[in-house]
Amino acid sequence: MQTLHVDLGERSYPIYIGAGLLARSDLLVPHIAGRQVAIVTNETVAPLYLEALEAALSGFNPTSIVLPDGEAYKNWQTLQLIFDGLLGARHDRGTTVIALGGGVIGDMAGFAAACYQRGVNFIQIPTTLLSQVDSSVGGKTGINHPLGKNMVGAFYQPQGVLIDTQTLSTLPARELSAGLAEVIKYGLICDEPFLTWLEASMPALRALDQVALTTAIERSCAAKARVVGADERESGVRATLNLGHTFGHAIETQQGYGAWLHGEAVAAGTVMALEMSCRLGWIQSGERDRAIRLFLAAGLPVVPPEDMLPEHFLEHMAVDKKVLDGRLRLVLLRAIGEAVVTSDFPREVLNATLDADYAALAAQL
Ligand code: NAD
Ligand code: GLY
Repeated sequence: MQTLHVDLGERSYPIYIGAGLLARSDLLVPHIAGRQVAIVTNETVAPLYLEALEAALSGFNPTSIVLPDGEAYKNWQTLQLIFDGLLGARHDRGTTVIALGGGVIGDMAGFAAACYQRGVNFIQIPTTLLSQVDSSVGGKTGINHPLGKNMVGAFYQPQGVLIDTQTLSTLPARELSAGLAEVIKYGLICDEPFLTWLEASMPALRALDQVALTTAIERSCAAKARVVGADERESGVRATLNLGHTFGHAIETQQGYGAWLHGEAVAAGTVMALEMSCRLGWIQSGERDRAIRLFLAAGLPVVPPEDMLPEHFLEHMAVDKKVLDGRLRLVLLRAIGEAVVTSDFPREVLNATLDADYAALAAQL
């Protein structure tokens, strides 16, 4: 087992990474403050892993709250089910909420923990690759609004993150690929040698090789912990973690939540950010194409949905959380491994990026 740390003063916490950790009550119990525990999961993950976790925590007689599955349920109505479960079982301010599932469960359970009786203890047990390398670390929690992705939420750090790499054995291939989009992101924004490693390791990762997966998770979590430790509330460098997300969130919102997986939208959105960086003369076309090849090798889409017109992108991008004083800010690459957040670009370059022929770009590779 590896242990990493997110250093945030009194809100610091460990990230445990290893195979079979779900049953390790010795890792969980020190992060449970009181005598009550509520496990929040969904109807897909519950039959797979809930029993093992309940057994590990049997001393607490945990309350299990099983939600419907899917991005389309990341909303107020489903959040209310968590509060119903907590209040129905008379959980008090000393309770600990444990998220068992992917990023949707982690984001919603975390937001519920932030709000319930003005804030209770919270632990993340992420079970998708995407949630293990990104969403479970850093304390961003929340829900979607019909007009915008993740528009309602709170920064709320967990007491600990427990990553059991064995849970990935049941993950559908499409979901694994979606997680690889966020893994590739770290290489692009801050770790070029990691990108080279990913190019060589992609077949092993997609074949669920435990050693390769563990390395990818550790390196991704280390990068995320470093960035979050430097900028918890996203007043600077943390925004670079959103490479491709402004374009990607527009795709998710326009297509209807769940139609495109978050990681898929991030992959296609990142290709757009790279194309724009290329048009600004910051990276070479060969570097853009290198990233496109890696996304393709990971089984990810690199072309935005055919029916998405530039005006659709602009409409959704106008409510992006990086919009400041009415100005759109984008995460772009000055070089591979060097991301910047900027509003300093000619509008024509953005328009040309939204208008570019991505199918033709991918076809020539
Ligand atoms: P998800 O939570 O919808 O999980 C994907 C699917 O896999 C679901 O059907 C889920 O039930 C299933 N699943 C989960 N674990 C499984 C397992 N071990 N075996 C089989 N099936 C399993 O999606 P996700 O990709 O994990 O997360 C996406 C969400 O995370 C989005 O809402 C996105 O906005 C959010 N996100 C948040 C942050 C953050 O910093 N908070 C960062 C990135 C993404
Ligand atoms: N996923 C982006 C962030 O946590 O800041």
